[in-house]
Amino acid sequence: MANVVLVGAQWGDEGKAKVTDLLAKNAHVIVRYQGGSNAGHTVAVDGEIYKFHLIPSGILYKDKFAVIGPGTVIDPKILLSEIEDLKRRGIAVGGLKVSTAAHVTMPYHLAIDQAEDRGRGTKKIGTTGRGIGPTYADKADRFGIRMADLIDPIELEERVNWLVPRKNVILERLYSLPPEDPKKVYEEYREYGEKLKPFVTDTSALIFDAIKNKKNILFEGAQGTLLDLDHGTYPYVTSSNPVAGGACIGAGIGPTVVDRVIGISKAYTTRVGEGPFPTEVFGREADELRATGTTWAEFGTTTGRPRRVGWLDAVLLKYAVRVNGLDCLAVTKLDVLDSMEEINICIAYEDTLTGAKYYDLPLFSGVFKRVKPIYETLPGWKSSTNECRTREELPENAKKYLNRIQELLDTSIAIVSVGQKREHTIIIEDPIHGPKRVLQKT
Ligand code: GDP
Ligand code: IMO
Ligand code: MG
Repeated sequence: MANVVLVGAQWGDEGKAKVTDLLAKNAHVIVRYQGGSNAGHTVAVDGEIYKFHLIPSGILYKDKFAVIGPGTVIDPKILLSEIEDLKRRGIAVGGLKVSTAAHVTMPYHLAIDQAEDRGRGTKKIGTTGRGIGPTYADKADRFGIRMADLIDPIELEERVNWLVPRKNVILERLYSLPPEDPKKVYEEYREYGEKLKPFVTDTSALIFDAIKNKKNILFEGAQGTLLDLDHGTYPYVTSSNPVAGGACIGAGIGPTVVDRVIGISKAYTTRVGEGPFPTEVFGREADELRATGTTWAEFGTTTGRPRRVGWLDAVLLKYAVRVNGLDCLAVTKLDVLDSMEEINICIAYEDTLTGAKYYDLPLFSGVFKRVKPIYETLPGWKSSTNECRTREELPENAKKYLNRIQELLDTSIAIVSVGQKREHTIIIEDPIHGPKRVLQKT
């Protein structure tokens, strides 16, 4: 029995969904604990590609609960279209459970998110435009509408009639946008509530019962450590807490429940949206990493934007080990490096103004945005890893690369992913019951 948190160790899109799909096989409940439809989680199974925004990737297995927890924000329109899409493809959705406490993304959240990011000009964040920031802001400001309200027409009408005129002031006066009609918003969202009602429940109680019955729970993080509102590269972050600690708050369970935390990292780094990215590369190098023209090309799952790409950043990953308390790592997309002549790993930063060296993430955003990477360069392996199924089958230089990452992070790599599909996976050690965690007391 083990309850496991899977967390992105970088800036999102690390391949969390692929690893969730793998580990969900032995879990009974799979829980999304934060974020909303800003997430884009891709799973390739049996020749099919599934792209999830809100529904946990575990839904592809029968007889499991897929929970969208209290810490999430839900655009009901997107959730319903995901449910419909799965049904059309013959996937049962009976196991889907949505928390009464999750917050609802309303049309004014979408409008404000998009207008606000545009309005920031050169300081824009490059959000996904899915209304995430404004929904979480309203939650903190106690102006939110929760799933429990969405499925209760009386409560919904009262809140919509109160909130929409307030938001219209912002829409019209601040952004010169057309106002919304409270009646229309109510009618539309009441219908969404009716359709979603069968899925809405107290998911914290469901998880607690499962734990008492010795079932395995898998917590599926969205986004990644460096996009965390508190621990990420603020202000270029999302508005929730993807870090492992967020799983407790976002799922409604206590920290004593979590047995293991697995960090997911690409074998290199990507970032979508704005914000400093010390190891970013451009031009031909970037094209090679972006693997243009392949099915696993680096384009955002949610927005279709090209992902910014760069070398692996061990400084950031060391930070991710710390703030998540990672037990082990899953390294994905090793195959993307197959054709590289040489491979860089950033082991420290140099402040371009003062020359100071940083081996840990600088605490000042003013410093982080002007650092340059100090690289260690390793030889590439120039051969395909796609068919490798054991560590031994990997080319020597690929093994050396992975070993060096382990050394730098003082954390073991339990899983290596060498392709998009389930079978493109190397299990180096049991990711759930593997060797003792870095921080374990002796
Ligand atoms: P997530 O948001 O962390 O779940 O990741 P995304 O789904 O947004 O992006 C990861 C992309 O890489 C998806 O298209 C995956 O199918 C793909 N992928 C995952 N693991 C591997 C791998 O080992 N090799 C390759 N080539 N693609 C992978
Ligand atoms: P998954 O779960 C990568 C980024 C956006 C933007 C910033 C804030 O697929 O890894 P938001 O819309 O959340 O207010 O945008 O966060 N971002 C992601 N980048 N993967 C994601 O999710 C992301 N979700 C948000 O690009 O820079
Ligand atoms: Mg993604």
